[in-house]
Amino acid sequence: MEKRIAICPGSFDPITRGHLDIIERAAGLFDEVIVLVMVNSTKTNTAFTPSERVEMARRVTAHIPNVTVDFSGGLLADYAREKGACTLVKGLRAVTDFEYEFQMALTNKKLNPKLETLFLTTDIRYAYLSSSIVRQVASFNGDISEFVCSEILEEIQARLAPKTEQAQPLA
Ligand code: PNS
Repeated sequence: MEKRIAICPGSFDPITRGHLDIIERAAGLFDEVIVLVMVNSTKTNTAFTPSERVEMARRVTAHIPNVTVDFSGGLLADYAREKGACTLVKGLRAVTDFEYEFQMALTNKKLNPKLETLFLTTDIRYAYLSSSIVRQVASFNGDISEFVCSEILEEIQARLAPKTEQAQPLA
């Protein structure tokens, strides 16, 4: 029987525990899952380069045998066609996610009519979590250990924590 391949696409800037939860659940539903680091043209100033985002995603998913990580700077619908993927798996956190995700799902279906989008409801533990929350808390030296996996915690802190002079109070 043909392998059922799913893609978990995203910016992953950086990958969070919420992303990992969706990836692990997708890995239980499909034969193969590709975590696809992509370019979101509305998010131009990423904190991490594509290679760094791929590398971090590889480290946190290394324990899942049917998951691989890749990068594409092109259209998701084209990538899915090339790889023979049948489904995009995305996490839905709240009503606020819906309009944007619905628009992307319809666009991808238009561009690749064989491609389905499957939404998994986020685990309640991660309902508030996003990469931008991670970046913001880290940039104020806050504790992000519950937001990102231990394998990438130090790398994120080293990149985003304020330099000492920035952290000083106003004179
Ligand atoms: O994590 P994000 O930023 O919400 O992910 C959005 C992403 C990267 C999946 C989306 O911007 C995307 O699919 N980019 C690739 C270009 C593309 O195919 N765009 C058409 C779909 S709207």
